[in-house]
Amino acid sequence: MPSARAAVAGLARTDEACEPSGVTPNPATAQPDRAPADRALRGEPVAREVFTGLPDRYDRLAYLLSLGQDRRWRRAVVDRAAAGQPRLVLDVATGPAGIALAVAGRTGADVVGVDLNEPMLQAGLPRVRRALPRGRVVVAAGRADQLPFDDATFDAVTFSYLLRYVDNPAATIAEMARCLRPGGTLASLEFSVPPQPAWRAAWWGYTRLALPVLGSLTGGPAWYRVGRFLGPSISEHYQEHPLAWHVAAWQAAGLTDVGTALMSLGGGLVMWGRKGPAS
Ligand SMILES: C[S@@+](CC[C@H](N)C(=O)[O-])C[C@H]1O[C@@H](n2cnc3c(N)ncnc32)[C@H](O)[C@@H]1O
Repeated sequence: MPSARAAVAGLARTDEACEPSGVTPNPATAQPDRAPADRALRGEPVAREVFTGLPDRYDRLAYLLSLGQDRRWRRAVVDRAAAGQPRLVLDVATGPAGIALAVAGRTGADVVGVDLNEPMLQAGLPRVRRALPRGRVVVAAGRADQLPFDDATFDAVTFSYLLRYVDNPAATIAEMARCLRPGGTLASLEFSVPPQPAWRAAWWGYTRLALPVLGSLTGGPAWYRVGRFLGPSISEHYQEHPLAWHVAAWQAAGLTDVGTALMSLGGGLVMWGRKGPAS
């Protein structure tokens, strides 16, 4: 029986000592698939900066940013991951481990969560320690584009709100698929841009005008900055990587039966797929 503890044996877990910045760059992603001028809203320095100062109130922020829809969206991802009755699951960019805990609670699987930012992992530790028998959910520092696991280790891999932050989304999807066993499930959640013009206009107004103000009122300068960052970051991601691009990237990474569901008029995107047989 595989276990989360065995999967992270040898890694620096966050309930012990760990230093995320010690992770070395991944040669596979050393050549970003973007022009340097476009990189102000993306990349590891952005991911580190955006989440500095957020962990304490992160869950409230996610709720606000999604107009209260986030919990329903997360449940859809957990449903997809749970469908294959996994025994060992990896949640990438786990943050405070919300999806990791939900998957563990729902399936009985052992779950490993990895994230670039140790403060985000630390924010989830009280819940991780409280919620389940020790060792069922284990979190450790790690980069999505350089996962410290053998090929085909996990029965399911989940990720949420990640791809806008990585230099090379296609390589990151392929890296996550590498860690999935043949027949296993990849399931994800990202913010999205509503396709219908009237809703897109409303979404634009909310993300560009209301979010910075609401962020500032509820969380001060750190949330104001995120409120201002988020809308342009989402728009830019989908200008360069439209939905069809995501489906093609999953297929290129070896996923079959790739499905998508736009949530809440298109404000969220849930995706899922099954890893094809080993070639
Ligand atoms: C918006 S938060 C989402 C956290 C969690 N998935 C959730 O749904 O609550 C994005 C997370 O992605 C992490 N992240 C960004 N780039 C990453 C990378 N290259 N590797 C691992 N984690 C990354 C950030 O540290 C942050 O915790």
